[in-house]
Amino acid sequence: MALAAALPETVAPDAAGRERAALEGGFALYVHWPYCRHKCPYCDFNSHVRRRIDDAGFARALLAELDRHGAETQGRRLTSVFFGGGTPSLMPPALVAAVLDRAARWWQLGSDLEVTLEANPTSAEAERFRSFRAAGVNRLSLGIQALDPEGLARLGRRHTVEEALTALDHAASTFPCWSCDLITARPGHTPMGWRRELLRLAPHLGDHVSVYELTIEPGTRFWTLYHAGRLPLPDEDLRLQLDAITAEVLGGLGFSAYEPSNWARPGGACRHNLVYWRSGDWVGIGPGAHGRLTLDGVRLAIARERRPEAWLQAVAARGSGEVERRPLNAREIAEEMVLMGLRLAEGIHLARLERLAGLPLDAILRQEMVESLVASGDLQVDEGRLRTTGQGRARLDAVIAAILR
Ligand SMILES: C[S@@+](CC[C@H](N)C(=O)[O-])C[C@H]1O[C@@H](n2cnc3c(N)ncnc32)[C@H](O)[C@@H]1O
Repeated sequence: MALAAALPETVAPDAAGRERAALEGGFALYVHWPYCRHKCPYCDFNSHVRRRIDDAGFARALLAELDRHGAETQGRRLTSVFFGGGTPSLMPPALVAAVLDRAARWWQLGSDLEVTLEANPTSAEAERFRSFRAAGVNRLSLGIQALDPEGLARLGRRHTVEEALTALDHAASTFPCWSCDLITARPGHTPMGWRRELLRLAPHLGDHVSVYELTIEPGTRFWTLYHAGRLPLPDEDLRLQLDAITAEVLGGLGFSAYEPSNWARPGGACRHNLVYWRSGDWVGIGPGAHGRLTLDGVRLAIARERRPEAWLQAVAARGSGEVERRPLNAREIAEEMVLMGLRLAEGIHLARLERLAGLPLDAILRQEMVESLVASGDLQVDEGRLRTTGQGRARLDAVIAAILR
């Protein structure tokens, strides 16, 4: 179907329309806890190992940043809160409770609010699950990564397979929702081994699982090893075999990939991730946290100091660790929404894309390319949405490059 015909009408862009369009994607709070017990050799996230952590100072700074953003977005309805890291399961549970309590002063917290905390599956951390539940967390995301001793050792993980399974069961009896992160295409990963890991995991799974393909990031120990020729990674053919096993086993358990790395059973998609991929608005607080806020018709990209010490000093001095607050132009807004939205199986709502960007659709997308990719089976246009097919999602970068004007 032609693009224009998929739209009920072409909506003239306006400031209130842009803010409404952003909030149709949801409104979320991300809280970054930047500390870990040790740094994993593959990880380039903003995470740091420190002997001593100033819990009280960190709490004051987080709440100060939350108040800043609360004042400019007061009264909005919050879709989700996500405590990410780092290892937020090392946070004092009282700080988690204090953040949620403060959030409730500024925003509307419905009974359907999703509150996720990332956790490592060591037994020490599992003992704290109940305190996090009491603090208001209702979804736990466990960093399992691998489910065989060799895989865990190669990834430099400090937990065992048994600890991982016990932590999952403990999560299941403590939280209404739980998820886990896995890493595939690891050094030495075999199809048989991967199938065995997934089958062993199956009875312990909740309604959500993330499966990331290992990426070798600059500045990590894996980067050094890889470039010294000491990290043998699966080739393209083996990666495809591993992906096929993921799809076969998780598909057989009732999961579908609502995003290339994220699998859920019906109703189990992570609401927080959806806010990002649907180009909603979110407040990010803590070192290095990013945000997107649409205020008075202007969509802002917000960035913060990354180093915990610099961030703490900035918040003490200025009440916020923000280092950037940049208005996005219409083209940047459109590109971001297309880039993020086409990752989702549900695709993008075209009328919302126009309202958020403030541009007519043919100023954003090459209609003739969309039509040709619909004909080749990479894209679909229906019910006012543009989405990638499985085939299109497998070559997403090329599809996006072809259709963006
Ligand atoms: C912020 S991290 C979670 C940190 C948590 N402390 C842990 O270690 O489990 C989010 C997830 O990203 C994934 N991840 C991190 N670095 C990665 C890499 N280089 N390649 C693939 N996945 C990665 C891991 O699955 C990890 O659980």
